[in-house]
Amino acid sequence: MTSPLETLRTEFSRALAVAFGEDYRDTDPLVFAATDPKFGDYQANVAMSLSKRLKQKPRDIAQTLVDNLELGEDYEAPAIAGPGFINLTFTSSYVERRLAELQQDERLGVAPVEPAQTVIVDFSSPNIAKEMHVGHLRSTIIGDSIARILEFRGHNVIRLNHVGDWGTQFGMLITYLQEAYPEALTTANALDLGDLVTFYKRAKQRFDEDEIFKEVSRQAVVKLQGGDSESDRAWRLLCEQSRREFQVIYDRLDINLTERGESFYNQFLADVVKDLDKIGLLEENDGAKCVFLDGFTNKEGDPLPLIVQKSDGGYNYATTDLASIQYRINQDAGERLIYVTDAGQSNHFAQVFQVAKRAGWLPENVEAIHVPFGLVLGEDGKKLKTRAGDTIKLRELLDEAVTRARQDLDTRLAEDNRSETEEFKQNVAQVVGLSAVKYADLSQNRTGNYKFSFDKMLSLKGNTAPYMLYAYARVQSISRQGGIDLSNLPAEAKVVLNEPTEIALAKFLLKLPEILQQVEQDLLPNQLCSYLFELSQNFNRFYENCQVLKAEEPQRTSRLILSNLTANTLKLGLSLLGISVLERM
Ligand code: ARG
Repeated sequence: MTSPLETLRTEFSRALAVAFGEDYRDTDPLVFAATDPKFGDYQANVAMSLSKRLKQKPRDIAQTLVDNLELGEDYEAPAIAGPGFINLTFTSSYVERRLAELQQDERLGVAPVEPAQTVIVDFSSPNIAKEMHVGHLRSTIIGDSIARILEFRGHNVIRLNHVGDWGTQFGMLITYLQEAYPEALTTANALDLGDLVTFYKRAKQRFDEDEIFKEVSRQAVVKLQGGDSESDRAWRLLCEQSRREFQVIYDRLDINLTERGESFYNQFLADVVKDLDKIGLLEENDGAKCVFLDGFTNKEGDPLPLIVQKSDGGYNYATTDLASIQYRINQDAGERLIYVTDAGQSNHFAQVFQVAKRAGWLPENVEAIHVPFGLVLGEDGKKLKTRAGDTIKLRELLDEAVTRARQDLDTRLAEDNRSETEEFKQNVAQVVGLSAVKYADLSQNRTGNYKFSFDKMLSLKGNTAPYMLYAYARVQSISRQGGIDLSNLPAEAKVVLNEPTEIALAKFLLKLPEILQQVEQDLLPNQLCSYLFELSQNFNRFYENCQVLKAEEPQRTSRLILSNLTANTLKLGLSLLGISVLERM
């Protein structure tokens, strides 16, 4: 099924060509969802934009276009409003027919995109032996949702975890491992090094206080890079330990990722520098090899260098990302490269993309996009910390969300005099707690900072996960009350729409395809959240105003269809945010 928006755009292009000549076929018809229902369902603003070029009044252009539009039975006669807006309104027979079709469509009207692309989503990407912090949590949640949406749209998505598993800090870590856990290198079994963050801090302390330790660490880096087997074993041990800790978080959040860390690109780094030299982009600056950037200057206004090989011969984060761009394009056949990190890395990516473009490694037809996000703030508006001022441990943060969800549930059950099994309660608390954390993050425009508040995210009111889950559960309770299997309503059942709230809900259900298309373009999952929130509100208004189970036929079945489609849309939409629904809560 093509979405109404696509159908309209195609029809306007045709009408433009017929009315004003072939040259006008590619003019953007400027068709958008109407901002206000009183303007209908869609509006086309192209008449205003063509006024100069055609030397005609916008209203006259609009009239000519309207005379040439062939919208068939699907739309009421177009209306021209104001300076020359063309307002388009669905006929109710169209809405009724579409909804009946959606009943039979698992994809709820979202046709797979053609042609599908290979998209690389680089997300989460924590650093070995360091804390996976709330910034990585944001990257994980946002990246996963973007990946899910693109997958559902039909793209071939490669989810990559670009873990920081390489760099000079490993010299220090390996040296400390050898000093503090000498047995680690001789026993065959994996070793529990305890809390790796504490391990990192101790190693750093040794490094800072002891010159000999420092020197040994430097040599350890060289040995590791030279492939020394003992260093390699120590390195693997550290990575393995971190990996286990990261996996606990991924399992809880249902995150699927392929690890391809920085170390993977080692083998290509020397060539990156060599090739930049061959192309003539490489310059020396204070002993370091670098590329001078266009449009990036220092305080004095001189061009800034992007260093790709330090004066000691070592490579860095930028070199690795240059190698990874080549790999993702040449080996993975990536056509869209997406990087989900904090906004603080915007310059890094802009610089790396620029160099890759100038080197000819990033061709025009491949899109490299940094998807930045803001900070996670505490309720005091400052960077999120524990009361004691330490960084928050993700595991504890997720535990607390679940504990609080459980408290809320217990209170609700007591108020309603309901008794439920322990298993039920645990499951509801898990789903609600984790969904709340995910949804709170995703529902914000990611480019801004967001305030982390357990109270807000767990509230049953407002744009929250519990509100959405509740709307879904409400539909399921209708089905239980009526003893009706909503997934099994008669295929030939008709949708009949009369009440304003049911018409509004019905039309809203038709919007999912264009919303997902928009998210695919802007990579803003909060657009999907807003849609689901408004859908729930539309449903609640409908439910307050219209009888469902007590209605007469054919209204009764028609309204059951509306309810079921709402539930299916919520379930699908939430699943694209990485959130699963509850039949009861
Ligand atoms: N490890 C980095 C960090 O913790 C994120 C890596 C993002 N991906 C990339 N290809 N640079 O900030």
